Amino acid sequence: MTLRSVIAGVGSALPKRRLDNAELAAQVDTSDEWIVERTGIRTRYIAGEGETTATLATEACRKALAEAGMDATEVDLIVLATATPDQTFPSSATKVQALLGIRDCIAFDVHAVCTGFLYALSVADAMLRGGNARTALVIGAETFSRILDWEDRTTCVLFGDGAGAVVLRAEDTEDRGILATRLHADGRHGDMLYVDGGPSTTGTVGKLRMKGREVFRHAVVNLADVLGEVLEASGLTPDDVDWVVPHQANARIIDATARKLGLSPERVVLTVDRHANTSAASVPLALDVAVKDGRIKHGDVVVLEAMGGGFTWGAAAMRF
Ligand code: UT7
Repeated sequence: MTLRSVIAGVGSALPKRRLDNAELAAQVDTSDEWIVERTGIRTRYIAGEGETTATLATEACRKALAEAGMDATEVDLIVLATATPDQTFPSSATKVQALLGIRDCIAFDVHAVCTGFLYALSVADAMLRGGNARTALVIGAETFSRILDWEDRTTCVLFGDGAGAVVLRAEDTEDRGILATRLHADGRHGDMLYVDGGPSTTGTVGKLRMKGREVFRHAVVNLADVLGEVLEASGLTPDDVDWVVPHQANARIIDATARKLGLSPERVVLTVDRHANTSAASVPLALDVAVKDGRIKHGDVVVLEAMGGGFTWGAAAMRF
């Protein structure tokens, strides 16, 4: 028997309010031209009153469950990746559980910032293959707008809010499912991308701070390396890959990483223009876009990658 974790459904959710570069340029010293040229970002979505990480996550889960043709009561594991939980505790995963009306299941948050979804997927995959659960909701959900310094043009133009979720099911199959995941962290770089507050230090939530140029440099190297690792672990070459779904931080990072591996740009899913960087939500949001518009189909070889604060970085390869 080959027990594999298969994606049975994908869903996503965005806040109602869309904020474009021109509106931002009226608030801080920036321009549409600078943002597009340096990042590829044109718009982002910003959570409003009543919209939180958990409510966006729940909406994404409902859509993923509907696509899988499943009821929430069948879920026995929820792993939610976020760096912007509704509260310090309880976990946002248990909030989603309650909102979905699930009485009893395993539910916890995973915190690896922009790499969070890859960490969550890897943990859920191991738990499903280990027999701890049969059906998981794996979620990336964030409301970074609430930890941005809206007067700091070097960061506030880059991020947005949203959520993406997949239903992951343990199936006895050789044809589909996650083939390999690879995760990394190097805490020596904690001061390159961080939040200057927290419950155990300042007692405040804090704001995001980033040394963008240094993060950029590390991102291209780390992402190309981990993509190479996950392909090798799956017995694949870059030519076997149908779709790359990268973390959507910057179109230039995505291009440079694909070029380093010899992956053609037509096979890379790009959504940073419309969503900006939604941290842990960016990979499942982009995956949902490419599944819904018909690009990613069952049987395709899909690789996911992300890199973020910590530093953390990781990748996953699957036959969708
Ligand atoms: O998700 C986690 C991973 N995060 C990332 O991957 C982000 C990685 N970093 C990046 O994407 C890029 O480094 C940025 C988009 C953040 C910045 O692009 P850059 O090409 O590295 O620009 P820079 O930081 O070198 O800044 C160039 C210039 C500076 O002016 P001077 O010093 O050359 O006069 C900045 O002050 O651009 C200026 N600048 C801006 N100008 C207009 C910085 N932000 C802005 C802005 N509008 N929003």
